[in-house]
Amino acid sequence: MGFKTFIAFIVFISFLYTGQSQTNTNIIPQPKVQNLTNGQFVITNETGISYDNTFEVAANFLKSYIENGSSIVLKENKSIQFIKDETITNPEAYHLNIKPKSIQIKASSEKGAFYAVQTLRQLLPAEFENGSYKANSIAITCQTIEDEPQFSYRGMHLDSGRHMQSIDFIKKYIDALALLKMNTFHWHLTEDQGWRIEIKKYPKLQGIAAYRNETLIGHYNDDPQIFDGKRYGGFYTQEDIKMIVAYAEKRQITIIPEIEMPGHSQAAIAAYPELGCTDEPVFAATKWGVFEEIYCTKDSTFEFLEDVLDEVLELFPSTYIHIGGDEAPKTRWKTCEYCQKRIKDEGLKDEHELQNYFITRMERFLNSKGRQIIGWDEILEGGLAPNATVMSWRGIQGAVDAAKMNHNVIMTPNSHCYFDYYQSDNEDEPKAIGGFLPLEKVYHFNPIPEELTSEQAKFVLGAQGNVWTEYMNNEKQIEYMVFPRILALSEVVWSPKENKNYPEFLNRVDDFHKRLKALNINFANHLYDIDGQLLSDNGKLSYKLATQLDNKTIRFSTDESEPNNRSEVYVSPIKIEKNTKIKAAVFDKETQLSKTFAQQLNYHKAVGKSITLSVEPHKAYNAGGKEALINSINGSNTRFGDKEWLGFYGDDVTITIDLGEEMEINCVSTRFFATNGQWIYLPSGISIEILDNNKKSLFGNIEQMLIPETKLTDKIEMGCVEYEPGELPHIGRFINIKIKNYGIIPDGKQGAGNKAWLFIDEIIVN
Ligand code: ACM
Ligand code: ZN
Repeated sequence: MGFKTFIAFIVFISFLYTGQSQTNTNIIPQPKVQNLTNGQFVITNETGISYDNTFEVAANFLKSYIENGSSIVLKENKSIQFIKDETITNPEAYHLNIKPKSIQIKASSEKGAFYAVQTLRQLLPAEFENGSYKANSIAITCQTIEDEPQFSYRGMHLDSGRHMQSIDFIKKYIDALALLKMNTFHWHLTEDQGWRIEIKKYPKLQGIAAYRNETLIGHYNDDPQIFDGKRYGGFYTQEDIKMIVAYAEKRQITIIPEIEMPGHSQAAIAAYPELGCTDEPVFAATKWGVFEEIYCTKDSTFEFLEDVLDEVLELFPSTYIHIGGDEAPKTRWKTCEYCQKRIKDEGLKDEHELQNYFITRMERFLNSKGRQIIGWDEILEGGLAPNATVMSWRGIQGAVDAAKMNHNVIMTPNSHCYFDYYQSDNEDEPKAIGGFLPLEKVYHFNPIPEELTSEQAKFVLGAQGNVWTEYMNNEKQIEYMVFPRILALSEVVWSPKENKNYPEFLNRVDDFHKRLKALNINFANHLYDIDGQLLSDNGKLSYKLATQLDNKTIRFSTDESEPNNRSEVYVSPIKIEKNTKIKAAVFDKETQLSKTFAQQLNYHKAVGKSITLSVEPHKAYNAGGKEALINSINGSNTRFGDKEWLGFYGDDVTITIDLGEEMEINCVSTRFFATNGQWIYLPSGISIEILDNNKKSLFGNIEQMLIPETKLTDKIEMGCVEYEPGELPHIGRFINIKIKNYGIIPDGKQGAGNKAWLFIDEIIVN
């Protein structure tokens, strides 16, 4: 009997035993140990809370939650007890023991007690969240829970630079983090597009840097780009921030402010041009991307930053201060007399070492004030500041390198932690920056990179979801992007990996929707989305349909008609023998529960045949496996992270397809994804070779040509390009396609100096 089945069994037994219906026992994040026992504890007007003084905040939270959530008024007695237990060594751990006559909460610190309350809260009906539970008693299923987090850093980030949020929203965000036992809010407060924190010594940060003249509407990749013509901006006052920090503290959440340097600082330079290298006036940026105006390394810039940080430190008691460090183009530094003199005077090799000088100097300042720095993984370039913690975002390599150097790391790889990416294939998703990060991929994220030994793994403090707001100009959309992916992340960082079970998690998510609704949180629901998969059995093809939550009826059509409640019920994979359009939807009797799923299958000669690759795709972009390249389905034109596209990071690749027998080959075409802003480039070359049954090359290397230079302009940044090498000779069995990666991203482009990504799908043989 599985763990959940066991729980269901116990629930059933206790149902028989008490004759009363059971309340909810689902908790997110899943506790380490949860054992249901017999009976119920009933909260009534006779219930009371007693507590050790350490636990005052947690106890009051529980009291207000119960009294505001229902008509219950608590007494003063000991039926719910908060007990200090020094034998519980992890300060965030707690024991919760619910018996018919008492509830005991044990912890060694207020943190653990607070998390026990968050668990207890989820055992009460969702109506408690908004005060709509009208009765004056509620039964909770008896159980024991022993719980503690897997990671000490459990974070969510929010970019208030590109778009700013109301104070009420920031509080709501903090509340949601607390409910999910997250303990860190990484608040991104300065950007090229706006400076959002009041600094009294520099009033132009408020007067000028906090505002931009207008904002890009539509996608960055649109041509032409269109702007709204409206001034946008604002900032949080120091009073606002103090209030928010105190609010977070009561919820066991540390706020780590991020003050970006040396890059992403155009708004500050707009206010004080002397902070830049050229003294030229600039404006706060009105579109997204990476900008060349970065802080100059002259002494007066450091004085400015130290003054700013002095005020920041007064507001934020966190040990960690995030100083950015990402995406700082070195263009200005290369031609600046101050910066070049600094390189010479300090005996530095180049501008990368100058970046290290910058970060190390700021680290020394912050260390002298008793604080520690966090920086994005670019702070590894040109050497790592001695005490820095690295936030790994460009994949996990930064974390691997830093942990091997005995530095702490926090995992936020864009492949698994960027909540600004699309979360479903549906074409009607709200506009997002790109990428594809479905709930399941977040859930399966393991923060410990395989490359690390168990000793090195101790440097991994935890993980964080990042919420960049270029395309989130309203709060409801932020909620949509964050929920439900934050639920999966909360289990990644809290729950033991061994207990993970995705289908079981989905049932709890389904149940959690009630709570999110009661909290007026605008969550995305893709639980009923249909997912398809092409199956090949000795060349016989079929198409499988499934939903995330099982036990749902799928109905489908293959004649282009819209599926309705009389369409054929899907029972087994659909045979595919020609070009086919499959449409399907989930029904609950008469009602359609899901959006209509539609998939065009383009049958061609390589579909379902055997394929080999000279190198593995990068593991973050290999969801469909190599078969995805010849499965009759084209990768999406907007989401390079879907399970069709295979991504290769810097690698050249040779793809070999075996058609099984010699046959006529008229045309081979391949599709590539290009979105230079996200480091994805067309290949620099491709060649195709056809071989006979004996693997003898029939005509030599037929094509050896470069993708025309014109195709590498920004105009085709987003979308796919179909590449046809032209007429090919007719008979062959094996096809070798050699694809050359673009190489290193050139100066002036986002990600300059890094390896380019190559994304391929599909290879079409006709
Ligand atoms: C980042 O996404 N530039 C850290
Ligand atoms: Zn300079």
